[in-house]
Amino acid sequence: MARDNDPMPQSYEYDVLIIGSGAAGLTVALNLPEHLKVCVVSKGDISSGATLWAQGGIAAVLDDQDSTENHVQDTLAAGGGLCSEEAVRFTVEHSKESIEWLIGTGVDFTRDTDAQLHLTREGGHSHRRIIHAADATGYAVSTTLAAQAQARPNIELRSGRVAVDLITNRKLALPGNRCVGAYILNLEDNHVELFRARFTVIATGGASKAYRYTTNPDGASGDGIAMAWRAGCRVGNMEFNQFHPTCLYHPHAKSFLITEAVRGEGGLLKLPDGSRFMDRFDKRGELAPRDIVARAIDHEMKRLGADHLYLDISHKPADFVRHHFPTIYEKCLEFGIDITREPIPVVPAAHYTCGGIVSDERARTDINQLYVVGEAGFTGLHGANRMASNSLLECLVYGQAAAADIARREADIPSPPEAPAWDESQVRDSDEDVVISHNWDELRHFMWDYVGIVRTTKRLQRAKHRVDLLSDEIGEFYSNYRVTNDLLELRNLVTVSDLIICAALQRKESRGLHYTLDYPGLLHEVRDTVLIPTTYRTPSP
Ligand code: FAD
Ligand code: SIN
Repeated sequence: MARDNDPMPQSYEYDVLIIGSGAAGLTVALNLPEHLKVCVVSKGDISSGATLWAQGGIAAVLDDQDSTENHVQDTLAAGGGLCSEEAVRFTVEHSKESIEWLIGTGVDFTRDTDAQLHLTREGGHSHRRIIHAADATGYAVSTTLAAQAQARPNIELRSGRVAVDLITNRKLALPGNRCVGAYILNLEDNHVELFRARFTVIATGGASKAYRYTTNPDGASGDGIAMAWRAGCRVGNMEFNQFHPTCLYHPHAKSFLITEAVRGEGGLLKLPDGSRFMDRFDKRGELAPRDIVARAIDHEMKRLGADHLYLDISHKPADFVRHHFPTIYEKCLEFGIDITREPIPVVPAAHYTCGGIVSDERARTDINQLYVVGEAGFTGLHGANRMASNSLLECLVYGQAAAADIARREADIPSPPEAPAWDESQVRDSDEDVVISHNWDELRHFMWDYVGIVRTTKRLQRAKHRVDLLSDEIGEFYSNYRVTNDLLELRNLVTVSDLIICAALQRKESRGLHYTLDYPGLLHEVRDTVLIPTTYRTPSP
């Protein structure tokens, strides 16, 4: 139903529409030829995704003592036998040039006194190979890339824009399997606008907001994954949601991560009585891969009935701690915890979506002219468990690959077909927003309780039953009411949670991040869980 003073719906046309302005989206934008008209949209501010919050750093082989083969083997081992070796080699082999490009954009990484890049260590890495900007790497990367993009005349940055759904030839009842662009909600005036583009890139990040406790910022609601699924793309390995072992535990601290680099620099995990426990779980102790450490903490918390454990770096010199971890030091001090003198209370929290939209080495998806980069994608790099600091690397390597592929093809790709404006004639403003907040809470609670670090078939079935009910309710709400950001995020979270549960039910073994009491062993056959939507069509080569 039209409202008084409704503005005319806006429509725009670009060569490349990039949905998301994190490391992945901005890497694509900055690597595209400058004659292309590019638009980057983001839900919140340009620097509001997970990238801004990254602490530890970016993995790359930069030290003479290290080698590509070491990085490949560490990634394969952390991935629990499920990584695509091709994707791992592709990523690691391109790591140096991606990092050199990033340094060229002006990111100020921490250096040793002799001006060499300081390399830190994190779980699963057999060598020091993580470059970082103290403990605020994401801030340095995000603000530098955003400034570079702002300075490019061919790139328009539009914040406060929420992609609602992709537009495809199929939806327009046209022949072919092409992406035409997206409908995008403008949060300034709450109207949905039409963005058509020759190429569309999904760079919307992960879906960890599906869980009650998470290290992720608001907005990590898996929008791109849900949109691509609805549009007909396959989605892979969604059961592997990574839980970071050490999120600050404090009633007033919302989602604050304590980087794994604290353990890399000697931090020790401790029980409430001050004793260490990681050696009982893995010979690599505190530097075992994340799935093992998070499960060990969860196990000890349940065994002791504790609501948190501790991470202690207070045995290191205070200057060393303050120099390496200035952000964490200040943040903890705000909550009355002096990390140079006392242990930090920590709990595991949902951190990273290892699965996502199926893509290839050029970041292409199942729909022509639709690409995916970053955490929203499933390249095969992470397998059953992502190794620390390989994520930003994936954003860079696949972001550059997508840009190169678009540059190679763009002369042959015609303008997108016309598409109709968003139709709001059958909907009205919601008068019951409590439905959204209630369902949002319910979803994140049962995902945490039933689809968390330790699973069972019965718990997964319970979750499936609830997600189906929510799905019906939200579907009905969506059909009757005008869209808002909260409604869109909830709709997407319900879809993504359903994909996580369905994938988890299909995996009848315990591998990497997927641990179920009903199938504690490993199957002989190693297989990705690829879910296929009913609308799937084979893409053209
Ligand atoms: P993001 O940076 O999350 O960006 C997503 C973008 O998409 C945002 O601009 C958002 O506004 C936009 N968006 C989403 N939905 C929509 C929509 N519907 N419409 C329009 N725009 C939309 N990885 C590492 O490698 N090293 C680390 O040290 C590290 N530390 C981390 C610390 C924390 C606290 C967290 C949460 C993650 C960390 N990670 C780390 C993981 C890594 O930061 C992320 O995987 C990576 O930044 C994802 O980048 P991205 O560009 O794919 O998505
Ligand atoms: C961290 O700094 O511990 C996070 C690193 C990552 O998620 O890769």
